[in-house]
Amino acid sequence: MTYLKPLGGAKMYDLVLKNGKIFLNHELVNADLAIKDEKIAAIGQELEAKHAIELAGKWVLPGLIDAHTHLSLPFRDTITTDDFYTGSIAGAKGGVTTFIDFTAQQGDEGLVASLNRRKAQAQNQAGIDYSFHACISKFSKGVREDLPKLLSEGINSLKVFMAYPHMMLPDNELFELMKLCAEHGVLLTVHAENGTMIEGLIADAEKKGVMGIKLLPELRPEVTEATAIKTLGTMSQATGCPVYVVHISSGLGAAALVGERGAGAHIAGETCPQYLFLDNSLLAKEDGHYFSCCPPLRARSGQGLLWDALKSEALSVVATDHCPFNRADKDSWEGCISNLPMGLPGIESFGELILSEVQRGVLSLQTAIKTMSEAPARIFGMFPQKGSLRIGTDADIMVYDPEPERVLTHKEMLTTNDYTVYEGFKVKGQTHLTILRGKPIYSQEAGWMGKEGGGRFLKRAVVDSSFFNKKRPEL
Ligand code: URP
Ligand code: ZN
Ligand code: ZN
Repeated sequence: MTYLKPLGGAKMYDLVLKNGKIFLNHELVNADLAIKDEKIAAIGQELEAKHAIELAGKWVLPGLIDAHTHLSLPFRDTITTDDFYTGSIAGAKGGVTTFIDFTAQQGDEGLVASLNRRKAQAQNQAGIDYSFHACISKFSKGVREDLPKLLSEGINSLKVFMAYPHMMLPDNELFELMKLCAEHGVLLTVHAENGTMIEGLIADAEKKGVMGIKLLPELRPEVTEATAIKTLGTMSQATGCPVYVVHISSGLGAAALVGERGAGAHIAGETCPQYLFLDNSLLAKEDGHYFSCCPPLRARSGQGLLWDALKSEALSVVATDHCPFNRADKDSWEGCISNLPMGLPGIESFGELILSEVQRGVLSLQTAIKTMSEAPARIFGMFPQKGSLRIGTDADIMVYDPEPERVLTHKEMLTTNDYTVYEGFKVKGQTHLTILRGKPIYSQEAGWMGKEGGGRFLKRAVVDSSFFNKKRPEL
């Protein structure tokens, strides 16, 4: 195998990772990995460098990419508790080396102005690499003008909502936007819940005076996700717009996506750990509102279908929707669901949760790494710089120790969120070391070693269309 030959003489490298099991061509191979000038320089036997780290028994994986985070996201008079710095630290502890967050239009702010505002915020804070999806809460003439400018700034994905009264795009605006995206080769990421149906269900429940948190899944049933995805699929077929559906929560939603893709829609989907590992029985507990998110947690009985969609890679990405509100923020809801800051933390745990399932034989390591690193890099235009361990690409690495048997607990977490929804979860394995562009930024032994502002803004370009066509697996 040519990739096992060192590229140059001994001592030329900055750092060598010795004797690890390296994730190469979708399998683990015993070898050394050498880094020079932030890049992977060689993978082979007996490589040497000024600095070496012994990694016998450890898995050397591409750094994870969290394609869906909400750092410093304002909601009413509060804000998500992790900012770009603390979110980076929490991410690094979980093996994450890149995140994609969102811009958010404030009032009449243009798309480029909101990008610049968020970039300025992240620039001095982010400790890992990052980009943004450009959020649109209103489709106007300005969007048409700003789209080519966004592309030249390295932003190739927009984000819109089909739910939330103050954000949702009506179908006519969605259709116009999709035509425009198709014209410019821009990817449209979508929160797919049928807002009209949901508002009707909420109004009915309000009339009856029953609004407990337990009701959340009934106010936003699976059918609202599936019909929204079908609408998107039909519009994608008509316009040619590539669509990426965020946080698919149900088997019904995943099946709708597969059906639309089969019918010719250019559509790919993401799910999140909360929908794979948690269920709606948590909402019936006294502190059920700490588990509130949209779409809501679903019944355990339907979770198998969602796992099947992930195992077959019918769903292409696992990302977290990391949206950490503290308990006091959630407590302020006073029994009214629309006052409740929605969203759950996840960036610190998702890699370890999924890799633990790999060790249990639930899904393959290949699928786990594809969905948490390679696919988001390809879909969002960062491949091959990110998302693999190829020679010449950024040395972003998660070193994973498969051995420790652990119980996840908030006490050991680095997020500033004051609780975890995964408290008490048993997992096998742990992040041992995280490397960003050749520099260790977290180790299990030393903790966070990175720098505030050490992350870099990533310009993204071409979308990998193979994720959006009908050759993806059937459910
Ligand atoms: O409940 C959630 N998911 N909150 C974050 C915002 C969103 O819709 O992704
Ligand atoms: Zn959403
Ligand atoms: Zn989100």
